[in-house]
Amino acid sequence: MKALVALILLIQLPAHRAAPAAPPPAPLGCDDPESEAAAEFAVNYINGHSHHGYKFALNRIDNIRVVPQGLNNDIMFLELDLLETTCHILNPTPLANCTVRSFTQHAVEGDCDVKLQKLDGKLSVLASKCHSHADSSEDLLQMCPDCPLLASLNNTEVLATVTAALNEHNSNSADPYLQLLEIGRARIQYHPAHSVSVEFAVAATNCSAGEAKDNVEACQLLPEDQSNFGFCTASRLIRPSEDLRVDCQLYGHQPGVTYSQPGQDTSAGLVPSVAQGFTNHNLRLSHNNPVASESASSEFPSSVLSAKPVAKRAVAEAAQHDKVPRPVGFVPPPPPCPGKIRHFSI
Ligand SMILES: *[C@@H]1O[C@H](CO)[C@@H](O)[C@H](O)[C@H]1NC(C)=O
Ligand SMILES: *[C@@H]1O[C@H](CO)[C@@H](O)[C@H](O)[C@H]1NC(C)=O
Ligand SMILES: *[C@@H]1O[C@H](CO)[C@@H](O)[C@H](O)[C@H]1NC(C)=O
Repeated sequence: MKALVALILLIQLPAHRAAPAAPPPAPLGCDDPESEAAAEFAVNYINGHSHHGYKFALNRIDNIRVVPQGLNNDIMFLELDLLETTCHILNPTPLANCTVRSFTQHAVEGDCDVKLQKLDGKLSVLASKCHSHADSSEDLLQMCPDCPLLASLNNTEVLATVTAALNEHNSNSADPYLQLLEIGRARIQYHPAHSVSVEFAVAATNCSAGEAKDNVEACQLLPEDQSNFGFCTASRLIRPSEDLRVDCQLYGHQPGVTYSQPGQDTSAGLVPSVAQGFTNHNLRLSHNNPVASESASSEFPSSVLSAKPVAKRAVAEAAQHDKVPRPVGFVPPPPPCPGKIRHFSI
């Protein structure tokens, strides 16, 4: 009996002790595995809720702040730098297999603030807010004077190239007749040759090429339970000679994957016309989280500000330590935030 009581006490002891004796937890660093797991979860959420443009990959965790709510219950605020990949949002390739677009392809960066809850080890996104922008043309031209720059998605040459490329594909392929969903990105080069390269998302209609020739107006996008999305890349050489290359890939039916058609996308208001005059789809509009605009915008500025002094102090302390002679091999701890750059900085 005594032994049993002792055993019960022993089992209960850690739980009893934990609360009063727990030291304040060390602040999470941006490159800690727990931060990376939260960031990965957030990025998947953001891509899962994007309706236009491309999937984004994590480039750097800029900041993380954890606000404990109770036992095994934390609220996490993350600031993330993302980079555009070559996978369109309708592309079923898992993000880990998507290539981040290189700097010379005129990179597009996304900035996201995400509020997560971690309850009993399980993450959920409470709010998220993103926007994206292309790298400045000056930056790109400085590094790569001949690189083609992103062009407006409604540029006349871009539209002409997309139309020509889609016609070319539709008249020379055994695929069903494809209809344009959205232009993803476009670049124009003037020197040494004049060329236009475009990328666009498409969807299969219920017509074959022959049926479309007879009556294209009757061709409709397939209903949701049969939808078949795809993606085309095309390049058109205009000078010194004319040439057109197009390559389209249909992904096959993906249950549950839908595309918000223009006019039906009331949530974010992004119809292709909204991208008019812009070189990239804005993640702010492409990515739809109704909670974000209310809670994230009001909560982020203060939380971000209050997190900064901690990082600064750590850096200052590390600098202080450096003045003291250290045994050979001493490496000062890296500052907890921002974290490492995974691809490149723009
Ligand atoms: C993704 O990459 C992994 C590892 O390289 C590979 O095993 C897997 O087949 C790839 N998946 C797809 C869908 O490409
Ligand atoms: C495609 O669907 C539309 C609307 O349902 C229909 O009017 C048309 O005949 C169909 N076309 C073909 C080739 O089946
Ligand atoms: C592209 O869209 C912008 C904004 O709507 C408009 O001002 C511009 O004239 C358009 N350009 C072309 C070539 O249609």
